[in-house]
Amino acid sequence: MNKKDIRINGERIYLVPLTVEYASEKYCSWLNDPVVNKYLDTKNATIENLQKYIKSKYEDPNCLFFGIFDKKTNKHIGNVKLEPIDFNLKTAVLGTLIGEKNYWGMGIAPEVYKYLLKYAFDELKLETITAGMYKGIVGALKAVKKVGFKIHKEFDDAYKVLLKKEDFIF
Ligand SMILES: CC(C)(COP(=O)(O)OP(=O)(O)OC[C@H]1O[C@@H](n2cnc3c(N)ncnc32)[C@H](O)[C@@H]1OP(=O)(O)O)[C@@H](O)C(=O)NCCC(=O)NCCS
Repeated sequence: MNKKDIRINGERIYLVPLTVEYASEKYCSWLNDPVVNKYLDTKNATIENLQKYIKSKYEDPNCLFFGIFDKKTNKHIGNVKLEPIDFNLKTAVLGTLIGEKNYWGMGIAPEVYKYLLKYAFDELKLETITAGMYKGIVGALKAVKKVGFKIHKEFDDAYKVLLKKEDFIF
């Protein structure tokens, strides 16, 4: 897989694999914003550790870590990741961060899922995608349900959701 050549187009957004030059102050500020990072592991981001993180994800053949960009302005608004990808089991785990809060609630995440998962099923030949999410994240469950994910396991504070290729709603 040559990551350099990958670009996934949606209606309002496009996705490209993140490279170190995208480790910006803005990206750091998302991760250091208590509203955005409430349910994320990272809370003390610096440009230097973001660069290291992006580099390690870019070099990992079992990870596809994309920036989400606004088509009109080319503004970097968030990230989405398939990791780990298991090409033998044909599975991957999906993770999403829309960092720009003024883009929340506009259906960006479902649009990202639509085009990313079409790529995952058609080009990467995957068959099952899972994701985990805390119940407190407003909209996260609704967003994944829009492309066909179903609740696979329910915990006190979180869900594990699963999408089989045949249930994908494009
Ligand atoms: C959770 C997240 C991925 C959802 O993405 P999104 O692009 O905002 O998703 P949608 O626009 O489809 O919103 C889903 C639903 O939640 C609602 N919603 C989203 N943000 C909302 C908010 N701040 N307040 C109230 N409702 C909200 C939407 O109206 C929509 O409901 P509807 O289908 O009835 O219209 C995104 O908001 C996000 O990245 N949040 C912060 C980071 C995070 O916690 N990520 C981990 C996610 S697993």
